[in-house]
Amino acid sequence: MTLTLTDVTLTYPDGDGRLTALDRIALDVPAGTLTAVVGPSGSGKSSLLAVAATLVTPDEGAVVIAGTDTVGLGRADKAELRRERIGIVFQQPNLLPSLTAAEQLQVMAH
Ligand SMILES: Nc1ncnc2c1ncn2[C@@H]1O[C@H](COP(=O)(O)OP(=O)(O)O)[C@@H](O)[C@H]1O
Ligand SMILES: [Mg+2]
Repeated sequence: MTLTLTDVTLTYPDGDGRLTALDRIALDVPAGTLTAVVGPSGSGKSSLLAVAATLVTPDEGAVVIAGTDTVGLGRADKAELRRERIGIVFQQPNLLPSLTAAEQLQVMAH
């Protein structure tokens, strides 16, 4: 499954203005290859991965996954794409503290 980002720009609100976290990024990850994104804290790694995983919609640019430009997809189609084709290990675990490990997995099944 090939991943291609073209001219991807992502900004966040920053006071009266906008902070540019991704500035016209181009990235090509051919199927079957491994890519590491490295850089200092605050350089935009998490922003890049969130956009590449379709969790965050960029201000501009294309995120093409296996031939489909995902930027124009609706929420349900993006959710299906993530469920079927994308594995995400989050930096923040997003677990429910009151549940056991087994219960966390049961929640996912519902
Ligand atoms: N939700 C957010 N709201 C506003 N600014 C953000 C948000 N997330 C990240 N940023 C800013 O975007 C820039 C890139 O952050 P981030 O993608 O988290 O970098 P990294 O993962 O490389 O540390 C930083 O300047 C950070 O402060
Ligand atoms: Mg990060």
